[in-house]
Amino acid sequence: TGMFTYDPGFLSTAACQSGITYIDGDKGELLYRGYPIEQLATNCDYLETCHLLLYGELPDAKKKAEFNDLVTHHTMVNEQMQFFLRGFRRDAHPMAVMTGLVGGLSAFYHDSTDINNPEHREIAAIRLIAKMPTLVAMAYKYSIGQPFMYPKNELSYAGNFLHMMFATPCEPFKVSPTLEKALDRIFILHADHEQNASTSTVRLCGSSGTNPFAAIAAGVACLWGPAHGGANEACLNMLQEIQDMGGVDKIGDFIAKVKDKSSGVKLMGFGHRVYKNYDPRAKLMQETCKEVLAELGLENDPLLKIAVALEKIALEDEYFVSRKLYPNVDFYSGIVQRAIGIPVPLFTAVFALARTVGWIAQLNEMIADPEYKIGRPRQLFVGSERRDVKPIAQR
Ligand code: CMC
Repeated sequence: TGMFTYDPGFLSTAACQSGITYIDGDKGELLYRGYPIEQLATNCDYLETCHLLLYGELPDAKKKAEFNDLVTHHTMVNEQMQFFLRGFRRDAHPMAVMTGLVGGLSAFYHDSTDINNPEHREIAAIRLIAKMPTLVAMAYKYSIGQPFMYPKNELSYAGNFLHMMFATPCEPFKVSPTLEKALDRIFILHADHEQNASTSTVRLCGSSGTNPFAAIAAGVACLWGPAHGGANEACLNMLQEIQDMGGVDKIGDFIAKVKDKSSGVKLMGFGHRVYKNYDPRAKLMQETCKEVLAELGLENDPLLKIAVALEKIALEDEYFVSRKLYPNVDFYSGIVQRAIGIPVPLFTAVFALARTVGWIAQLNEMIADPEYKIGRPRQLFVGSERRDVKPIAQR
């Protein structure tokens, strides 16, 4: 039937109205609530950005202190959560673990189960923002067999994450200000990106009135894929593959493989559904990447060299130019994460941590909208016409 508009991949369908994030893909512009990403990444920290996304405005000094205090006091997770975590294999992929843990939160917090109740949504929002770093760090510590580190309230959001990831009970641990700042920037750049696949998933999932933690777990599951959040991990694996092939000299061979469509190989960290000029986040990430590698004395890092050369070759190549393929945020974020010491399989979990606030802000916006209904796409049916079941002996 021709009753419905057919738009595979939602190339031209707006599924909602939103006042949170604005992207101009041709100009390479990204605004959170009207503020350019460049200004936020330079002048604000991640929790200020969270406040902006959730409540619509940047906090003043008093509100900032209150919000930080609120988030800080919800960073611990129910002690039982560790027994749930311990049920996983130690070599489980962190995103498998995170999908479970975030969904599992719905079993622990009974005062934040009703997505239609604004107070429940508020407390679920704070809990999620506060607990995501704790859960990611727990998943990591468990995978390497080290004791869990409890959150430390005197540290910043990013500093506390580094502490829970890399401190041990045996030795004092000092957070490096450069790495803390770099990580905070990764969080800001990933905080929201309007109606991407995982955010649309969270909206659709939440539209049934499900538990807020369960809706966010759906977002985590969607983010895992290599075409979306999993690209940072896939990009680093690709750079490593080129290194194993022989390094910078083998980039040409790798690009030839990408151009041969039958290979199924894509240049990971390149291309974007919306940005067809450049990804402003990639520019900011590249800056941070240089700072971090200089601070750590890793300017000669072979994977960075491959990344820089690969970017240059691709940007001059007709295949990529004609298709408007540019590096996206994930092209450089993986190199920064790796330099910080975050293991490759954990990259997408760090993205999930940062994107949580965007998912919640979008979910809240949807539910507060008086026109909100359950999301229910239609289809163009192309299957069999009506027919009758035959007795099994005659099939
Ligand atoms: N390498 C090689 N060719 C590509 C790539 C790539 N990374 N991306 C797109 N193309 C080609 C594609 O094959 C197609 O060619 P043709 O016109 O000859 O058929 C053309 O460019 C248009 O691509 P598309 O697949 O129609 O574009 P899309 O909007 O459906 O996909 C994308 C966007 C991001 C999924 C895709 O570019 C991709 O898979 N990139 C690699 C994965 C990646 O880096 N993802 C992270 C996105 S940014 C972080 C996030 O938001 O999650």
